[in-house]
Amino acid sequence: MDFQLNEEHLMIQKAARDFAQTECLPGVIERDELQKFPKQQIEKLADLGFMGMMVDPKYGGAGMDAISYVLAMEEVSKVDASVSVAMSVNNSLVCWGLETYCNEEQKQQYLVPLAQGKKDGELYIGAFLLSEPEAGSDATSQRTTAEDMGDHYLLNGTKNWITNGNSASVYLVIAQTDPAKGSHGINAFIVEKNWPGVVVGAKENKMGIRGSDTHSILFNDVKVPKENRIGADGFGFTFAMKTLAGGRIGIASQALGIASGAYELALKYSKERKAFGKEIMHHQAIQFKLADMATKVEAARLLCLKAAWEKDQKKDYTLSSSMAKVFASEAAMWISTEAVQVHGGYGFVKEYHVERLMRDAKITQIYEGTSEVQRIVISRAILK
Ligand code: CAA
Ligand code: FAD
Repeated sequence: MDFQLNEEHLMIQKAARDFAQTECLPGVIERDELQKFPKQQIEKLADLGFMGMMVDPKYGGAGMDAISYVLAMEEVSKVDASVSVAMSVNNSLVCWGLETYCNEEQKQQYLVPLAQGKKDGELYIGAFLLSEPEAGSDATSQRTTAEDMGDHYLLNGTKNWITNGNSASVYLVIAQTDPAKGSHGINAFIVEKNWPGVVVGAKENKMGIRGSDTHSILFNDVKVPKENRIGADGFGFTFAMKTLAGGRIGIASQALGIASGAYELALKYSKERKAFGKEIMHHQAIQFKLADMATKVEAARLLCLKAAWEKDQKKDYTLSSSMAKVFASEAAMWISTEAVQVHGGYGFVKEYHVERLMRDAKITQIYEGTSEVQRIVISRAILK
């Protein structure tokens, strides 16, 4: 067993770290405050090849492995989780699903520009539309319908909480075609945002990842050509579940980045701040917090890398990605809260970054399957 990163991994990690420091750190507090979508940062990520990291170069991607993806996600998330969620959705929910399950025409038309993150010089990213107002964890009970009309489907319904909702040009939409067939009556479709009948709802005003543009998306009699269905009839739910298994590695890595970012800030501050005549790092209560933070960060990183390694080795990573996500997101929540504590009153104000990391950490326990859903997936796997 080799715990050493190779030269290429180290280079990618450094490129992501440099990018986060030079491009994401400036203005991160203001973007959070103003809920400003980090368009410029995402365009630059696209130029680095980080919006289609794992896609084969013949489809416009950077051809990197999943380990590299974890490393890059961690570095970007340390600084700005609103940037990294757009990166995660485009890489693992959109590009991976298209590359793995789409036919050649669909790949040429959609995957190539999405993996590059640009089309005709403009930002070109995707979104993944599964959740609905009445169906989140209980994903098979969705109400959006895709009625088979012969040469096309007629799409009607509302999707909720969609990341990249307004900035995306392409939506991967999961919808019910034949409710009598349950999860086997569900299909996945490639839908363009500018098609007639597609309406972008209002932006959500959120606790965290405030720069990320989260919107509801409404479909009113949207005509979706048959050739835009992904896979065979009834494949949509399997498509969503398989895609989410990889997506959870992305969100686990996002949580890891928030956790390690908060830990590094707490460590630094503990060496600077003095109380009772010495730096606070000399107080055992602070030392023990830092020890627990460091241990949880390391454990979360190993789980993320293990899931990524399994993906790279073409093994089944459903269990390991859920384990990585539930552990890393709970670590991120705990570590970021303790990082605020280590900062005392300064931790409660925006300039010190840890309060934002704490707010951003919360969403990692909710999206791409709540912690309860991850425990459902894990317990089913270990009990079967
Ligand atoms: N791979 C392949 N097939 C799978 C699968 C997987 N990982 N998981 C389930 N299936 C199949 C099952 O085998 C079953 O098929 P059969 O009927 O042939 O046996 C079918 O799908 C239905 O599965 P379940 O009976 O297990 O379904 P369930 O209703 O019990 O739900 C669940 C299972 C794990 C809770 C699932 O609904 C789930 O993951 N819910 C959470 C949804 C979620 O993660 N949403 C995230 C939205 S995207 C997002 O959030 C993005 C973002 O924020 C940035
Ligand atoms: P519910 O499913 O109603 O859950 C409520 C509570 O009940 C949770 O604690 C849950 O864990 C618990 N619960 C539910 N069922 C069970 C059970 N069987 N056992 C134990 N506990 C249970 N979705 C997309 O499709 N695409 C996106 O891009 C996207 N981006 C998002 C961005 C943000 C900022 C947010 C907030 C959400 C996003 N989502 C997206 C939706 C997200 O995936 C859902 O919010 C999530 O899956 C939970 O669904 P819900 O909100 O309906 O909660």
